[in-house]
Amino acid sequence: MLYAKITGWGKAIPPASISNDEISVVVDTNDEWIAARTGIRARRVSHVSTAELATIASKHAIACAGLEGHDIDLVLLATCTPSTIVANTASLVQKNIGATGAAACDVNAACSGFLYALQNATAQIQAGMIKRAVVVAAERMTWYVNWAKRDSAVLFGDGAGAVVLEASSEPSGLMATKTGCDTEDRDILHISNYGSDQDKYQPVGPSDIQFEGREIFKRAVTGMSIACDDVMQKASLSLDDIDVLIPHQANLRIIQAIQKKLAISDDKVMVNIDQYGNTSAATVAIALCEAVEQGLIKPHANIMSAAFGAGLTWAASYIRWGERTAPIKTCDYSFPPCQKSGLELINDAVQACKSAD
Ligand code: UT7
Repeated sequence: MLYAKITGWGKAIPPASISNDEISVVVDTNDEWIAARTGIRARRVSHVSTAELATIASKHAIACAGLEGHDIDLVLLATCTPSTIVANTASLVQKNIGATGAAACDVNAACSGFLYALQNATAQIQAGMIKRAVVVAAERMTWYVNWAKRDSAVLFGDGAGAVVLEASSEPSGLMATKTGCDTEDRDILHISNYGSDQDKYQPVGPSDIQFEGREIFKRAVTGMSIACDDVMQKASLSLDDIDVLIPHQANLRIIQAIQKKLAISDDKVMVNIDQYGNTSAATVAIALCEAVEQGLIKPHANIMSAAFGAGLTWAASYIRWGERTAPIKTCDYSFPPCQKSGLELINDAVQACKSAD
């Protein structure tokens, strides 16, 4: 039996951030409301493209695996904020990392995208089609934000995370997974004013993240808990077998509700929403990477991950870690210097959103 072992991991965290106090200058909100209702204390704003975020995270993951770009057969980029749609953004990442000749494809399942892409790449490795893949999730969610609306403006951030998968006979990597989509409710979470349904000759105003927060909240908790239960059953795992929970980071209260339903203690749950906000597909990838860096993921750890996003897509995955928790090599490729603060980076968009409001 072939497995798709995770042998490398990396992330790209943009240097510029916006604190809750700073965002209170842009919209009518305050640190107390945001922290209490969401757990978010700051979010990052990228001064580079989605492709560049993905490139940085991928290069770190490839070095961590002790590989070179040309060793990679497949680049899957999970994103709903692609730099370009045609050509796909994954093709630029493929070029940037030197994965000459590798297949390159964007995957859009919104916040569930990383787990969808992980499933896809794992299946290709297990079927013997390819040997090595980079699965990267990169988002510039702040590009979509309508800075005139406080309900969504406070929630989102930018960033990227990546893993390298390699064919292995060792039982590790994605061991069981379940993905799905409750399409009846696709309207309760969507981006308006974007896509080929728009009349491109008429001004439509800024894109806007539209959502029914309370409804999504309920469905996210129920959907992710049921999906986790299903996957644990499929893998014959009990709750005691789970060493680490890596949930999608959309709201601390959603994470705590899932944790309660699954009866998992605080010390086993990876949380970083306070620093980064909701980075859509990238939340799970970044959290996975940081869980290894922080020592939460130990050799042979059993990891449960779950995500929920627009579509309404959902996914739950059981991942078994290998022996190694330290990188084979490191890479010093990083962001170009950023001369602006987070607020300065969004300033033009804020003015445009306010005059369109
Ligand atoms: O992934 C896409 C978006 N993510 C989600 O939708 C995640 C799931 N939902 C949530 O995380 C939560 O529903 C939110 C964080 C989005 C909202 O929290 P909530 O506790 O469900 O608040 P609410 O929408 O019911 O609003 C409560 C009050 C309202 O005021 P009134 O009508 O009670 O006077 C809002 O106008 O909070 C007000 N409010 C704000 N106040 C200060 C909404 N946004 C803000 C804000 N600052 N940023």
